[in-house]
Amino acid sequence: MTTLFLMVGLPGAGKTTRARQLAEEHGALRLTPDEWMLPLFGEAEADGKRDVLEGRMLWLALEAIKVGTNVVVDYGCWSRHERSAIRWLAEAEGARFRMIYLPLDAETQRARITDRWATAAGETFPMTEADILHGWAQFEEPDAAELERGAISGPPPGWVSWREWAATRWPSFT
Ligand SMILES: Nc1ncnc2c1ncn2[C@@H]1O[C@H](COP(=O)(O)OP(=O)(O)OP(=O)(O)O)[C@@H](O)[C@H]1O
Ligand SMILES: [Mg+2]
Repeated sequence: MTTLFLMVGLPGAGKTTRARQLAEEHGALRLTPDEWMLPLFGEAEADGKRDVLEGRMLWLALEAIKVGTNVVVDYGCWSRHERSAIRWLAEAEGARFRMIYLPLDAETQRARITDRWATAAGETFPMTEADILHGWAQFEEPDAAELERGAISGPPPGWVSWREWAATRWPSFT
């Protein structure tokens, strides 16, 4: 069965490192937006272009699973809604969904980010203390129900489907 792996965690959690391993182990297509933002736009956010990039990547991820290719979606996926939408979309294509949540503590995070910037500056973005704090404030940690892949909840009130929600969250998705 084709699998969509979704990486979840704060900056420095080790998502891309683990995503590379999963891609090797499962012959999976790895979609890491950071590796596209820098060469295409030279910066991490660039006026909402990350959302545009992620939308097309999500579309590509679903195309890949349709043709039987495993995929690793290496977004941070801090929001529960984002994770639910991606899971729903993957399962709607008949794929298996595996969320890989990598927790980390603040001390480890700062050490890894400092170390990565010192050793691999060309592959990463500078990250300020404000960026780090913003991440902690925004991150919706997956709870037990989500980790155990219980029944998926419906889209938030006002949305007809997760597909419609995703097309608003990532405008280039459809
Ligand atoms: N399990 C681990 N133990 C120790 N160091 C690790 C581990 N996983 C990753 N690292 C190191 O921590 C740093 C951050 O890892 P990585 O780039 O994979 O994180 P990330 O979650 O993808 O971060 P970002 O969200 O910023 O893309 C790297 O220098 C990496 O080598
Ligand atoms: Mg990464």
